[in-house]
This record gives sequence, structure tokens and C-alpha cells, in this order.
Amino acid sequence: MSASGPRPRVAIVGAGPAGAFAAAHLLAGTGGPEVDLFERLPTPWGLLRGGVAPDHHEIKRLDRSFDRDVLDRPHCRFFGNVEVGTDISHSDLVRHYTAVVYAIGAQTDKSLGIPGEDLPGSLPATDFVGWYNGHPDRRELAPDLSGERAVVIGNGNVAADVARMLTLDAGELERTDVADHALEALRQSSIAEVVVLGRRGPAQAAFTSAELRELGHLDGVDLRIDPAEVELDPVSEEWLASEGTFTARRNLELLREFADRAPGPDATRRIELRFLRSPVEVLGSARVEGVKVRPNRIERDDDGSLRARPLDEEPEMIECGLLLRSVGYQAVPLPDVPFDERRYVLPNQLGRVFDPSSGETVPGVYAVGWIKRGPTGILGTNKRDAQETVACLEKDLEAGVLARPANPRREQIDGLLAETVPQMVTAEGWRSIDELERERGLREERPRVKLASLEELLSAGDTR
Ligand SMILES: Cc1cc2nc3c(=O)[nH]c(=O)nc-3n(C[C@H](O)[C@H](O)[C@H](O)COP(=O)(O)OP(=O)(O)OC[C@H]3O[C@@H](n4cnc5c(N)ncnc54)[C@H](O)[C@@H]3O)c2cc1C
Ligand SMILES: NC(=O)c1ccc[n+]([C@@H]2O[C@H](COP(=O)([O-])OP(=O)(O)OC[C@H]3O[C@@H](n4cnc5c(N)ncnc54)[C@H](OP(=O)(O)O)[C@@H]3O)[C@@H](O)[C@H]2O)c1
Repeated sequence: MSASGPRPRVAIVGAGPAGAFAAAHLLAGTGGPEVDLFERLPTPWGLLRGGVAPDHHEIKRLDRSFDRDVLDRPHCRFFGNVEVGTDISHSDLVRHYTAVVYAIGAQTDKSLGIPGEDLPGSLPATDFVGWYNGHPDRRELAPDLSGERAVVIGNGNVAADVARMLTLDAGELERTDVADHALEALRQSSIAEVVVLGRRGPAQAAFTSAELRELGHLDGVDLRIDPAEVELDPVSEEWLASEGTFTARRNLELLREFADRAPGPDATRRIELRFLRSPVEVLGSARVEGVKVRPNRIERDDDGSLRARPLDEEPEMIECGLLLRSVGYQAVPLPDVPFDERRYVLPNQLGRVFDPSSGETVPGVYAVGWIKRGPTGILGTNKRDAQETVACLEKDLEAGVLARPANPRREQIDGLLAETVPQMVTAEGWRSIDELERERGLREERPRVKLASLEELLSAGDTR
């Protein structure tokens, strides 16, 4: 990077883990660019704050490193409560910055496309997760926890998280940073059984082994698995022997171990894992009363992948008062930014965004994290991913291929934001929110007590 002249200025859009890792890489040296971090919420760190389950304390502590390596660094500013695409546009950013890095994650859920999916009581796990984590957009969700059984669709780690949160002992929840409104509702919950349905078999479950193991070791919770359900079909048997991953083998061992266990004498709640079952209809007149599921078998597709094929058998009805659809997150396009409508990502090569119609790189526009590669991968995956994107950006800066923006001075973007965003939250504002939440947490022996409404967050983050 050039040592002479003013530092180039980079906008990162989205202050989740991917944006944070990208910022940390850019800010690590001494002669790097200035970084402005735009975030639609008043708080940074994306799904680390609003996704990772409250009982995963150790993981949540990554926020300290982000504060230190990003917001405490010179040449970094935080612009919270600023939504790109609404408050300011992509072309505004292009006019003010040498480079723009999109790190906006995947903001919505994939749908199942079955009748009854939108009945009250059938919720995307994305909403439920935001609700218990104090995401201000989900403050009013009020899931109905008055029924005895909940059904979770999906076999990924998010499904494991929500099943755990529905069954976790109140005493344990009380020691976490779960949002107060959720703590209160979960304390009163009548849910005694959570049935988790995988459309494919036990060898194809997307849980990581640590998360699966955790489900089998919750205080007061029986993990039930019918031993017949962990017998492999011939296709899966052959797949596991020839191409099965370490995780798939370990998961199967764990599932068999759990299936062989006797029920715990003191368990008051249970999680049941069932495989090779797909929902075909959500049932209920005014709200969810149950879900109709059909059995599947595993088949190899022409491309070699293993698919769930429906069996010609009568569907089964599972009664429930709450249905959580945990079948993956999905990105939302931004106005004037190229979007791959098939893969739901910004079309990119190693993080350099290109226009899919011409195949040409869009100079100075980059992607990182879930918006770059799709909604998979743990926190650490985004660190490597950010290294790749930042390496491209730094190479482009060094090669001098990025045009100088029309309005390069920081006062120019500050002027625009002062006009268009009435209540921006700066890094100082975030520190006030953080301090207040931690102080309240200290009094209750919890990591923090979250401010969970936009109003409270904006008021605590107002440092003018
Ligand atoms: C429920 C859940 C639990 C998880 N738990 C774990 C775990 O325990 N351990 C683990 O290792 N991984 C976990 N993960 C995975 C991890 O959270 C992700 O890999 C990571 O968060 C992806 O980072 P990201 O920055 O791409 O997206 P995000 O974390 O979603 O960050 C995107 C950010 O962009 C902001 N944004 C979006 N649109 C705009 C806009 N237009 N303008 C400005 N800002 C915008 C969003 O508000 C958000 O802050 C979990 C994921 C989920 C969904
Ligand atoms: N503790 C942690 O480390 C942690 C916690 C939470 C999330 N995460 C990570 O965050 C990422 C996202 O997690 P995720 O659980 O949302 O996604 P995921 O891992 O992709 O799992 C999605 C699940 O939904 C199923 N599914 C998809 N479409 C379906 C349909 N139409 N009908 C029925 N089932 C369907 C998938 O089954 P198929 O396999 O058959 O497609 C899969 O079991 C993952 O990489 C995960 O590891 C990590």
C-alpha cells in the first residue's frame, strides 16, 4: 500500500463477525486504510450478539477481541443505526470511499413452501433466535409456549440451539445474557417435549458433533432416539464407508450411544430426534395444531449427492403448539449491488464482486462472510474468508486500480450522514450501551443484561 498521500478510505457494510474480521485485518498494520463500519443496528457484532445461543458464554466473549482489534484501533469509526440501501445508498458509498466491502450476512430465512407454513405459531427459527437474543426487530415476537410439544424442522446447529433453548433449565438460563422478555417467557413455558425432524438420515445430519453431544447432556432433559432410526440404509452405509466425513462418523457414534441409553429418572423435559421425515403441511384452523410429515428414503442423485425421496406411505400427524422452521438463512439483495438470484450471494471471485451479466469485476466492491459464500460456517470460517477478501483489496490498492472517489474526505461523508441519519450510534455510543448492559449484568451475576428495544438502545447510545 502507498506510504505517501492520505490513507485510502474503506467502507465496510455490516458489523457482524465477517465485517469485524475484515476490519481487523485492514487495521492491523500501521499504514493501512481508514475504515468506517456501517451497521443497521445500534450495536455491532451481528450474529455473535444476535445469533449465538446465550448459554455459549465462551464464544460470546469474542466480542472483547472485536472491540479491541476493531473499534479501539485508530483510523476506525463505527456508524451504527445506519442501514445501507435505506438511509444511504450504494452510490453514496462509491462516491465517498475508495473501496466498499459488503458483509451484510443473510438477513432472512429460507421457506419450506408448504401449506399452513404461515399460520400463527409457525415461526422461522431466525425470528425465535433474534427474540431470545434481544434483537430489537424481534422484541414483540411473543412465541406461544403454552403447548406441551414443539416441533423443530431441520438438522443443523441452529435447530440444535433452538431445541436446547426450549428445554434448558431456568436456573441455567438465568446465568446467561438471554433477553429479559425471553427469560420471563421461557420460565413460564409449558413445553415439555421438542421433536426435531431431519429430512435425511442420521448420517446426513448437519449438526457438528460438539453441538450434538451437548443435546445429550442437558440437565433434566432426556434425549430420545429410536434405535431403529439410527440403523443405516444401504446407500448411507456405502456413502459413510467410502466418503463419510469425520463429523458424520462421530455423529453416528453419538446418536447410537444416545439411542441405547435408558431414560433419565429425573428428566422433566425431552428432546426427540427423528430422521427421514419431511413436513408436508402445517395443520390448524386459527393457529398451529400440528404438522403432517411424510417418510423419506435416501437416494443418490445423478450428481452423486444424497437426496431425501418421499416414500409412498401415509403421512403421520404430529400434534404441536409451536413449529420452528430451521432450514437455513437466506440473503436479501441490496439496491444497485449485483446479486446472484440462484445462490443468494453477491457474485464474487475470492471476494471481488462482479457483474453477472457482463462477468466484469465491479472495481472497488468486495464481499465477505455469509453474503460472499452463503449462510454456512462457524465464526472462525469468517476469519479465513476475511483474509482472502482483504488480500484482494490490498492487492488492488497497491496496484493502483481503484479510482479515487469523487468525495474522498471524511468530512464529506460525515456531512451526508448528519443530513440523512438523525440518530447515528458511534463507537463511543456503543461503549455506553456495552457498559450499561455489563453493569446491569454484574448486579444479577450475568454476563450482561441486554437492552432489547430500539428506543432503549438509541437512548443509551446517544452521546451527543
Ligand atoms: C443462530 C446462530 C447461532 C450461531 N452460533 C454459532 C456458534 O455458537 N459458534 C460459531 O462458531 N458460529 C455460530 N454461528 C455462525 C456465525 O454466527 C456466522 O458464521 C457469522 O455470524 C456470519 O457472519 P457475517 O458477518 O457474514 O453475518 P452476520 O453475523 O449476520 O452479520 C451481518 C451484519 O450486517 C448487518 N447488516 C445487514 N444488512 C445491512 C445493511 N443493509 N446496512 C448495514 N448493516 C447491515 C446486520 O445487522 C449484521 O450485524 C451461528 C449462526 C446462527 C445463525
Ligand atoms: N454452535 C455452533 O457452532 C453453531 C450454532 C448455530 C449455527 N452454526 C452454523 O451456522 C450455519 C447455519 O446453520 P443452520 O442450522 O441454519 O444451517 P445448516 O447447517 O445448513 O442446516 C440446515 C438444515 O435444514 C435442513 N433443510 C433445508 N431445507 C429443508 C427443507 N426444505 N425441509 C427440511 N429440512 C430442510 C437441512 O437438511 P439437508 O442437509 O437435507 O439439506 C439441514 O439439516 C451452519 O454452518 C452452522 O454450523 C454454528
